[in-house]
Amino acid sequence: MTQAAAVAPQPGAVEIHHGDNLAVIRGFAEASFTLIYLDPPFNTGRPQQRAVETARAVHETPQDVGVAAGSDPDSGGSPEHPGSSAPVSIRRGFHGRQYERLRGDLRTYDDRFDDYWGFLEPRLAEAWRLLADDGTLYLHLDYREAHYAKVLMDALFGRERFLNELIWAYDYGGKSRRRWPTKHDTILVYVKDPARYWFDSAAVDREPYMAPGLVTAAKAERGKLPTDVWWHTIVPTTGREKTGYPTQKPEGILRRIVQASSRPGDRVLDFFAGSGTTGAVASALGRDAVLVDDNPEAIEIMKRRMPHARVVGVPEGGSTPA
Ligand SMILES: C[S@@+](CC[C@H](N)C(=O)[O-])C[C@H]1O[C@@H](n2cnc3c(N)ncnc32)[C@H](O)[C@@H]1O
Repeated sequence: MTQAAAVAPQPGAVEIHHGDNLAVIRGFAEASFTLIYLDPPFNTGRPQQRAVETARAVHETPQDVGVAAGSDPDSGGSPEHPGSSAPVSIRRGFHGRQYERLRGDLRTYDDRFDDYWGFLEPRLAEAWRLLADDGTLYLHLDYREAHYAKVLMDALFGRERFLNELIWAYDYGGKSRRRWPTKHDTILVYVKDPARYWFDSAAVDREPYMAPGLVTAAKAERGKLPTDVWWHTIVPTTGREKTGYPTQKPEGILRRIVQASSRPGDRVLDFFAGSGTTGAVASALGRDAVLVDDNPEAIEIMKRRMPHARVVGVPEGGSTPA
């Protein structure tokens, strides 16, 4: 199939940070990333304490989380578009009655999700602050979280900034006989500014038509633009790509995201970096990448995977960065 980039670009620079992502990213400059991809750990029932701490931090320091300067968190704006006078920052509704009411309602349905959201919310708020005006945020979730997260993110960022719900479908592992086997992840996509975001469909690798006999030979040869449903294998258990990190995502998924939503030379951020798939792909495509993870094992794998990376912060017991 046609590959958009015929000539390999100069690899982009990679910076790896070891530490809790909230603390690390608070030090990054506002609007300094064109693309942010986040693949947080799924809701596995984190200890209550952590969620309480992060939630308290948000509520005590609204200026830290990107609320528009001078906004009254309780004034709310119009019911449809709370705080719509602040076009590229988190709207007034973020701490306003609308958002709080919604979050309170969800809490009554599922307090485990509430705990998870208490962890994620301040990190998403920081991500929004770091996103450039033409930037795009991709949040990778599983089916148990995707729907609550969609509703809350609409309230947080504004529904008009929602761009896509991507479905990554795969077919691997055990299959239930008591329901339809769940074999997909959801990636929610939000843009900082619907009038200015960067999206280059021509730069995306094309894929085979499902029924190539129904299109001309030239079209079949060229392939089709991917839609919002992406059939893609998981990382093969053998082969070049496998790092051994348990939650590693396939390069093919990240490649599409990086190709469409950034340009060579742009800065890409992943602060749940794991094995560093986002950085490896972004760098190979000529983007500069900043990666953060608090797991020393992830840092070691990223160092091996991207020997050209600069490492900032040292895992306990690890070696001093060059
Ligand atoms: C689902 S994995 C990401 C996998 C990655 N997309 C890849 O392709 O390898 C989530 C990562 O988030 C990291 N993580 C979880 N909480 C964190 C925190 N508070 N600060 C930094 N990293 C965190 C975990 O160590 C884990 O590596």
